[in-house]
Amino acid sequence: MSKSVDNLVWHEATITKADRQAKNNHKSCLLWFTGLSGSGKSTLANALDQVLYNNHLNSYVLDGDNIRQGLNQDLGFTDADRVENIRRIGEVSKLFVDAGTIVSTAFISPFENDRQRVRERFAENEFIEVYVKCDLEECEKRDVKGLYKKARAGEIPYFTGISSPYEAPSQPEIIVDTANETIEQSVEKLVNYLKGKQIVR
Ligand code: PPS
Repeated sequence: MSKSVDNLVWHEATITKADRQAKNNHKSCLLWFTGLSGSGKSTLANALDQVLYNNHLNSYVLDGDNIRQGLNQDLGFTDADRVENIRRIGEVSKLFVDAGTIVSTAFISPFENDRQRVRERFAENEFIEVYVKCDLEECEKRDVKGLYKKARAGEIPYFTGISSPYEAPSQPEIIVDTANETIEQSVEKLVNYLKGKQIVR
């Protein structure tokens, strides 16, 4: 056990995760969206969230661009900072899932090891890796935020896909192919998965 957790005692909560799920009438889980910048992670996470919200389910989105302006504003894009970014989001997501929420995270999360470490913090069926598949060429063509152009001009160091690696998931629970599916088709796939696993009805 690491030094930082010596002399700490875990307090069991009075209201359990199962209590909260029973009250919500659905299970909680983490949908971990991973993919290149511009692949459609945020768009899909929010589109799914809208459907869940419309159905009165307890859901929430954690988005890299936003979290990096608050909780993780001390982190940049070196490998070490990305590792810490993902570790923290994994822990925050665990709290959300414990609170009974269906949480969708939209982070590039380029390293398989980091995603695996997050997976290991959850029970089976609670962690759902969603590979937002879209090749670099298409993401660069979209260049919604103009970041690829800047990265190609050498103005952004460690840019994923250009000067920093992206490791695609080897066994994701779900693959959405945003170059060939509509948003509606991808969201339907996600909702069907949640229904199939009886996370929602
Ligand atoms: S990571 O790799 O998971 O830690 O990244 P994440 O927290 O998801 O943040 C990605 C968003 O930050 C912007 N941005 C960059 N992305 C990649 N590489 C570099 N160097 C970089 N600098 C800034 C960019 O808007 C990413 O958002 P998305 O939504 O992925 O395009």
